[in-house]
Amino acid sequence: IDSHITDQLGRPIKDLRISVIDQCNFRCTYCMPAEIFGPDYTFLPKDELLSFDEIIRLVRIFAGFGAEKIRLTGGEPLMRKNLDELVRRIKEIDGIKDIAVTTNAVFLVRQARKLKEAGLDRVNISLDAIEDHIFKETNGRGVQTKPVLKGIEAARSAGLDIKINMVVKKGMNEDQILPMARYFKGTGDTLRFIEFMEVGNHNGWNMDAVVSKKEIIDQIHEEMPLVPLEPNYYGEVASRYRYEEGKGEIGVISSVTEAFCFSCTRARLSADGQLYTCLFASSGYDLKQMLREGEGDHSITEYLQAVWTGRTDQYSVDRAHGKPMKQNKIEMSYIGG
Ligand code: GTP
Ligand code: 5AD
Ligand code: SF4
Ligand code: SF4
Repeated sequence: IDSHITDQLGRPIKDLRISVIDQCNFRCTYCMPAEIFGPDYTFLPKDELLSFDEIIRLVRIFAGFGAEKIRLTGGEPLMRKNLDELVRRIKEIDGIKDIAVTTNAVFLVRQARKLKEAGLDRVNISLDAIEDHIFKETNGRGVQTKPVLKGIEAARSAGLDIKINMVVKKGMNEDQILPMARYFKGTGDTLRFIEFMEVGNHNGWNMDAVVSKKEIIDQIHEEMPLVPLEPNYYGEVASRYRYEEGKGEIGVISSVTEAFCFSCTRARLSADGQLYTCLFASSGYDLKQMLREGEGDHSITEYLQAVWTGRTDQYSVDRAHGKPMKQNKIEMSYIGG
């Protein structure tokens, strides 16, 4: 077994994004539209979710291939019971340098401190508007910004590093770009704008609804001049800028208009143990079955090596070059972004 493998495009495995649950307390229109994810929608039954023991086994194997960053996602990861226990166990694994959670922050009020104590390094918090009447629409549940802002506050006082994620969609919240930038400038939190992506099959994506990285930067730059910064690390998805005056940094994630597949070092694990080598994949590799059929670490390791060394994914690049979109992609709430 070769411990530092690369795929067909020379990309190593650096990050493992683990979805721990497919449910969420929000119904963001671009992710889990309430018309589709209604009261009758069937989520994964509990026994289909990977147990913490199963997740830990896989993280160990991935760490053996050089994965050093772990991100816990959902749905809403804080809805998974005893998440802090999982964080504590991941933290103990050799080679893991960074553990983060992507969350809507509502449950951070109760959990931030205990997650920090368990070893969590940082949180990326989704917030698409600073004005209540818009946020109530984007989250699909009529939730005001206050519970999210309180969650951010809890994360801050617990000492977690914070990034704020704002998905920008035309007709939804593009007039919140400046108010969000003004609000977060000077808080010390990095605000990141995300181009609306064509993930899943139900969010009605079309190119006209995308606000491009360039439009976002131009808008902010006009009021608060920006200076580009170098990436923090190889393969960072956001391009970074700092304000010319005063403190503060922002990022833009331009998956649609400037694909970053060439440095994609991410593997994704769904809550029910399917491995995906791209956010836009339509099928995965069934690791749960291998675990539950009693395969040993050695054979799982060999299997993963074969999957990763054969990987050719570069979906966003292909789409930019005019390749038609696939029809049956996995849902964002299932794979966690
Ligand atoms: P950091 O480690 O803090 O830089 O995290 P991140 O930006 O990789 O993670 P986060 O969960 O905050 O995701 C922010 C946005 O980037 C989401 O919309 C993700 O779907 C998107 N994103 C993350 N990784 C990829 C990727 O490999 N491909 C694409 N197309 N989008 C990605
Ligand atoms: N396009 C871009 N970002 C999205 N997210 C969810 N759905 C989409 C989409 N269609 C974001 C969430 C969260 C992150 C994990 O992905 O807002 O911040
Ligand atoms: Fe939930 Fe995040 Fe999807 Fe919104 S974007 S519905 S908060 S998983
Ligand atoms: Fe990686 Fe696929 Fe995203 Fe490209 S589109 S950066 S290959 S996950």
